[in-house]
Amino acid sequence: MSRFGRFDDTAREYVITRPDTPLPWINYLGNEEFFGIITNTGAGYAFFRDARFRRLIRYRYNNAPLDVGGRFLYVRDARSGDWWSPTWQPSRTDLEDFQCRHGLGYTVIGSRREGIRCESLFFVPVAQTLEIWRVRLTNERPEPADLSLFGAAEFCLWDAWDDATNFQRNYSTGEVEVVDGVIFHRTEYRERRNHLAYLACSAQPTGFDTRRDAFLGPYRGWDRPVAVERGRSGNSIAHGWAPCGSLQVDRTLGPSETAEVVFLLGYTENPPDAKFDPPGSQTIRTAGVRPVVERFTRAEEVEAALGEVRASWSDLLEILQVGTPNEHADRMVNVWNPYQNMVTFNLSRSASLFESGVGRGIGFRDSSQDLLGFVHMVPGRARQRILDLAGTQLPSGGAYHQYQPLTKRGNDDIGSGFNDDPLWLIIAVAAYVKETGDRGILDQAVPYDNEPGSESPLYEHLQRAIRYTLDRLGPHGLPLIGRADWNDCLNLNAFSETPGESFQTVENREGGVAESVFIAGLFAAAAKELAALAALHGRAEDAEAAREARVRMISVVGEHAWDGDWFRRAYDHAGAVIGSTENDEGRIFIEPQGMCVMGGIGIDDGRAELALASVAEHLATPHGIVLLQPAYTRYRVELGEITSYPPGYKENAGVFCHTNPWIVIAETLVGNGDRAFDYYLRINPSAREPISDVHRCEPYVYAQMIAGKDAPTHGEAKNSWLTGTAAWNYVAMTQWILGIRPEHDGLRIDPCLPSDWEGFTAVRRFRDATYRIDVRKPGSVSGRVASLVVDGDPVEGTLVPPAPEGATVTVEAAIEP
Ligand code: GLC
Ligand code: GLC
Repeated sequence: MSRFGRFDDTAREYVITRPDTPLPWINYLGNEEFFGIITNTGAGYAFFRDARFRRLIRYRYNNAPLDVGGRFLYVRDARSGDWWSPTWQPSRTDLEDFQCRHGLGYTVIGSRREGIRCESLFFVPVAQTLEIWRVRLTNERPEPADLSLFGAAEFCLWDAWDDATNFQRNYSTGEVEVVDGVIFHRTEYRERRNHLAYLACSAQPTGFDTRRDAFLGPYRGWDRPVAVERGRSGNSIAHGWAPCGSLQVDRTLGPSETAEVVFLLGYTENPPDAKFDPPGSQTIRTAGVRPVVERFTRAEEVEAALGEVRASWSDLLEILQVGTPNEHADRMVNVWNPYQNMVTFNLSRSASLFESGVGRGIGFRDSSQDLLGFVHMVPGRARQRILDLAGTQLPSGGAYHQYQPLTKRGNDDIGSGFNDDPLWLIIAVAAYVKETGDRGILDQAVPYDNEPGSESPLYEHLQRAIRYTLDRLGPHGLPLIGRADWNDCLNLNAFSETPGESFQTVENREGGVAESVFIAGLFAAAAKELAALAALHGRAEDAEAAREARVRMISVVGEHAWDGDWFRRAYDHAGAVIGSTENDEGRIFIEPQGMCVMGGIGIDDGRAELALASVAEHLATPHGIVLLQPAYTRYRVELGEITSYPPGYKENAGVFCHTNPWIVIAETLVGNGDRAFDYYLRINPSAREPISDVHRCEPYVYAQMIAGKDAPTHGEAKNSWLTGTAAWNYVAMTQWILGIRPEHDGLRIDPCLPSDWEGFTAVRRFRDATYRIDVRKPGSVSGRVASLVVDGDPVEGTLVPPAPEGATVTVEAAIEP
């Protein structure tokens, strides 16, 4: 058992105390248009809006050594000639007192070597398109020190995919321009681009380099730049090949003296008709960016901008703060889980250590679910996200599986036909309206497939989403699965035999009848939400129709999808059952147990409890609940990608963490608070911190997957950060275990707590009022709320009606067995 750091709960930071973590442990900088990924050794990259098309700096993926690229700092001692990277990478020289503090929107990396302390702060100021690297060098020696500081970055030629592959062109296009000590990267600016990247510095540099081969020297890496070794820059100008930026600053520091140097890595645009100065020349226009550089290289501006970043995060987090008896629950709910939710909102699945930033667009189902975790923090941006998603919906009611963030248009490469996709939009809209009370969004005109002229109210989009399912029912009356449902890898119509072919986009085999029980469960959940929205919208008939369709679906599930002890998973292309005792492998799957119960199926007749008992018996492990059992041991062409993974990994019986909170929620629906919280803790990153050597990913955020019990590496996490796990765990803990649940008519207080708790407190801002919630419960019993007192007055039931804007409301709830 070992850790690589600790939580600093007061500062809301994770403090990493050695640089060689099992994997790079990352943080995200920026929250609007400009983003950076930064690892515990300062590596990573930055981009404007789109991680593929506007990449500022290069990163070497899957490199050996790990984690090379990004922000390079070097300190050199003139007297001894000794030099090192104060963030450890890329030189990996021994350091004393290494400490990396990942905070909310900023990272500080500190270290000491030979009496020279260096502390580097990295962040993106609110609403700016630049990264600040503030470096403080302190001489802790008794005598003066002559130091050189180098700040450097390797520019990416904008399109990260092209940059990594198209060398016949790119080795000739690279261009830079150095203006007043600022290095501008201007590749393709002479033609169709009107944007530049720059590296600037608060001091007048003593030298610079922009040619990578000049800075590094022949056959050397970033770990041994010749310019740093000799202590002198070459003032090189790049023509083609690999343009980089390096600025050198020299300082003599007396004993105990500190020098502060600020580097800026920025992005700037000029109007297309004002790219050059003077007009008609080929000299870049820098007038627009100069004031920005001036401002953010000033120490007091840096300090103020950092304060603003901190304040903006505090504002977001203050919307819900809880005090429970469990430190792992508090830490995740109050800080890290909502932080991760915002990152999934901003980046969807585009850029992490596991998502290269050149691949995926914004997923329809992914974003719809991510929204559940951030809607309370940024309701205005959530509204826009809903409209963007709905605008890519097809006239059939179906959905493009992904859209491109720069254009907001559906992605043709991946296309549509994932038959669960449209239903998630209903879940997202319901969550938005419950949180905000903004029913007007239902009237908002939104096009189909971004086609001008095709606009119809959002409400109609939701109706089409539900009809999309009802128009596509199979022989048992269950929804047809299409390319796949939530489980991208259950490809029942793919029949792929060609190596390398994408299971998601391969031509589907015709004539199949593959049906999904998961979609049936999701339909039950979505139809219930739609009925409520229809009623709010004054459409009683639609509400009734949705309720009836739901009842019919539930009865079909009862007839054809109940296996005796659990819900079945699907029927394949030929109509054979999946996820049943009839199968030899894949006899029980987690998704239908979670989603059918969340859809309200089986709660009244004991089937939900039976299904959950089966989950406990067959799927639960100390490291979380695996997706299926027994794992598939060989490739099955009729099931697709799921059987392509070795047993215990990913969808083939890994702990696919996204699904675990569904079981947590289902357990609260049958009143089992002990089991719900137990499952919650099994994948809680903070609770797993003591086994960081096994878990290996960051202990402050959720990972998509933890290797299952069939895997030799059981317990090892992968794919941290960008996962629907974040939103769903937040929902499961805050809305179902703590039971603080926004509803159309108010704030529900309906906790389902572990029996050994004696209650908890919470402060929740909801529709512009503040609720101070105090839940009391005798220890060692289970129970539900028996009495609710709002501002001193007893209230029937568990719903707190909405308070007037600005009000502070006290809510006291007593739980009894
Ligand atoms: C990935 C996808 C998500 C899918 C899940 C299960 O997380 O982003 O859309 O539901 O895998 O296959
Ligand atoms: C792969 C992954 C799966 C993901 C899908 C998205 O199939 O295994 O988890 O959802 O790609 O395209």
